[in-house]
Amino acid sequence: MKFFIDTANLKDIAEAQALGVLDGVTTNPSLMAKEGITGAENIIAHYKKICELVDGDVSAEVISTDFDGMVKEGEALAALHPQIVVKLPLIADGIKACKYFSDKGIRTNVTLVFSAGQALLAAKAGATYVSPFIGRLDDISTDGLNLISEIRMIYDNYGFQTQILAASVRHTMHIIDCAKLGSDVMTGPLSAIKGLLKHPLTDSGLAQFLADYQKGNQ
Ligand code: E4P
Repeated sequence: MKFFIDTANLKDIAEAQALGVLDGVTTNPSLMAKEGITGAENIIAHYKKICELVDGDVSAEVISTDFDGMVKEGEALAALHPQIVVKLPLIADGIKACKYFSDKGIRTNVTLVFSAGQALLAAKAGATYVSPFIGRLDDISTDGLNLISEIRMIYDNYGFQTQILAASVRHTMHIIDCAKLGSDVMTGPLSAIKGLLKHPLTDSGLAQFLADYQKGNQ
């Protein structure tokens, strides 16, 4: 399972990269705005900084909602760095643009996916990644993890190569559940990734080992 971090915060990205388990980064316009990154030039410079920090895919989202605009923006984003994956919303023009990029060998991440039917369309259009937003489904009393299972079944039934990128991951259990369900990738905050480290028996066991070592080596 690949681990992506879902942030535009360079410090968090560097910390996850230093842990040695990071496979990529996802961003979106809200995450960029949260870091105060505004204006085309600053946004482009920020994507470049992220690509320099990580070994792996970096999703950069288009703002346009029409086919021509998405193609223009996506081509410019893809040209920035070989690690860039063009992130497209799941609307009709987004699917058309996905097919266009896939035919040209440009990698895509189809985002804002909330149903199995939408994920099927993204796969048919040749998406590299499909991003079902599990946390946002949970927020409205709908089982986000169930969507991961449905997509896994559909993709396996037909051998689609599109990778399931569980998005809107909010906490550590989401990561574990997505791994159990066979999600190819997850993207979540640093706190969810670091949560995987924690177990009180690890802490107490290590404290005991160190105390016993001290006793025997004074
Ligand atoms: C996906 O790529 C999105 O950036 C993200 O996972 C959305 O998460 P949120 O629902 O916590 O905003």
